[in-house]
Amino acid sequence: MAARILAVANQKGGVGKTTTSLSLGGALARRNKRVLVLDLDPHACATLHARVYPEAVTISLYDLFAAPEAEWPALWPQIILPQAISGMDIAPGSIRLNDLEDIMRTRACKGTILARALRKVRDDYDFIVLDCPPHMCLMLVNALLACDLLIIPIQTDFLALHGLRLLFDSLHTLNKVLPSPIRYRAVATMFDRRAKACLHVLDLLKKKMDDAIFETVIGLDTRFREASALGCTIFDIDPKSRGACAYDSMAEEVLKLW
Ligand SMILES: Nc1ncnc2c1ncn2[C@@H]1O[C@H](COP(=O)(O)OP(=O)(O)OP(=O)(O)O)[C@@H](O)[C@H]1O
Ligand SMILES: [Mg+2]
Repeated sequence: MAARILAVANQKGGVGKTTTSLSLGGALARRNKRVLVLDLDPHACATLHARVYPEAVTISLYDLFAAPEAEWPALWPQIILPQAISGMDIAPGSIRLNDLEDIMRTRACKGTILARALRKVRDDYDFIVLDCPPHMCLMLVNALLACDLLIIPIQTDFLALHGLRLLFDSLHTLNKVLPSPIRYRAVATMFDRRAKACLHVLDLLKKKMDDAIFETVIGLDTRFREASALGCTIFDIDPKSRGACAYDSMAEEVLKLW
């Protein structure tokens, strides 16, 4: 079966998109799923997290977007770094992704480049995870138009609820021109069970999102920061930690969606 494509996006920064991409991907990889993570963020945090540094990246997703369609099959194997982190393959990002907005201004069907390009590698994986940048841009539109499920990490914090409106405005705009609406599910992140404010925001979120929210709530866990410092996922640090168990249970929910 062709890979399910999961876009992890929220127009608010620092809410746990990269952590969710790598930890959920890591949980799926531990269940023997073949996982590819695409770093669509010009800041390339997922790439850096995998200890792949900009000077070592000679070819990235930038080259895929900039190339004509006929070159995609030859480019993918050059871009993908096999088993780059915790059993997952990574397609690295690059600061050059920022340049695409200008270069692609006149290119036809530029919003569906990723959807079309992923057809060339979809059969090689069970899940393809798209780690998205925190602002509306060509990469984010491409991710939304390529995904089977949009996962929206939402920090259990009042200010985070505000950023949500931006993403839903973008979703509504895209849905107007799509044959079927983009399927989405939120996940509450960085939940501090000792903080009353967190509990209140979680309550609000559940009401607001109705069924479109994972039952799993991702709590605060300092091991996520340790994992990024060590170039691994939380599963390599402590598979029994609260954070690891949370993403494991989220992976179980994801697997039940299809
Ligand atoms: N559940 C958590 N508990 C504790 N720290 C966390 C948790 N989730 C993420 N973090 C930490 O919070 C910081 C931001 O997380 P992350 O990089 O995943 O967010 P992001 O949404 O991808 O940010 P950006 O918008 O900049 O791409 C990181 O240092 C990460 O280690
Ligand atoms: Mg990120």
